[in-house]
Amino acid sequence: MGALSATRRGIARSLYALVRTAAPAAYAQDGMISVHSHAFMQEPAFQRAYARGVKAIGGTDTYQWHWRIHIGLWAAAIAARLPGDFVECGVNRGFLSSAIMEYLAWNSLDRDFYLLDTFAGLDGRYISESERGGGAMHRNAEHLQSGFYVDGVDEVRANFDEWPRARIIVGPVPDTLGQVSATRVAYLHLDMNNATPEVAALSYFWSRLVAGAPVLLDDYAYLGYTPQKLAMDEFANSHGISVCSLPTGQGLIIKPPASSP
Ligand SMILES: C[S@@+](CC[C@H](N)C(=O)[O-])C[C@H]1O[C@@H](n2cnc3c(N)ncnc32)[C@H](O)[C@@H]1O
Repeated sequence: MGALSATRRGIARSLYALVRTAAPAAYAQDGMISVHSHAFMQEPAFQRAYARGVKAIGGTDTYQWHWRIHIGLWAAAIAARLPGDFVECGVNRGFLSSAIMEYLAWNSLDRDFYLLDTFAGLDGRYISESERGGGAMHRNAEHLQSGFYVDGVDEVRANFDEWPRARIIVGPVPDTLGQVSATRVAYLHLDMNNATPEVAALSYFWSRLVAGAPVLLDDYAYLGYTPQKLAMDEFANSHGISVCSLPTGQGLIIKPPASSP
């Protein structure tokens, strides 16, 4: 982690601790402070799913992603009522996808969950000048060095071993998109921390997404990822829709019925 980002994280953590001291019931972590109800954190099903996500990253919750995971589980539960497979582009160690598979008892469902990642960080060929200027490749190197980004797929495969229909696809998006054989997609999560492969994936899956399918964009409103927001807004505008900006930093699209492909 670079000195500047370490300092920023340190300041944020101190601020969260201060808020929780003043208002113990507040939610203060992961870029978000809220006094609104986060009672979902007490639900046993949420807790089991979250714990499975934590197991995927090695057993210690260094992420503190509760509200983000709540949104992901909510979206996945909607998607489970629709026909189609699930797809995540940007899996890393599998925190959210493992939580979802636990939450939905994946082996009881007749579906595939496609999990696409380089499992080696960002692919420099797809990083725009503005992302590069904003430090994307520098952050990528930090994340690989610190172990936040997994480097290699073996431990990821071991994590997903309990779910035979977890379909791990190794390599850079968009190059690997053709390996997803799903003709109908009920859930799409994009979390690659760079815009070009995310827009390529959304364009690729748009006509395969069934009406009502949630498309969750992990970085849409997150501090420091403006190029992804701009790119997704452009995609949304060109399809006559808009992205719902969430206070977690995520963005949410619902595939409208009879949308033009
Ligand atoms: C923030 S992590 C994903 C976190 C994950 N969704 C979770 O729940 O823990 C971003 C991931 O995107 C992957 N990635 C970045 N660019 C990619 C690309 N062009 N193709 C495939 N994976 C990519 C990285 O390797 C990294 O694992």
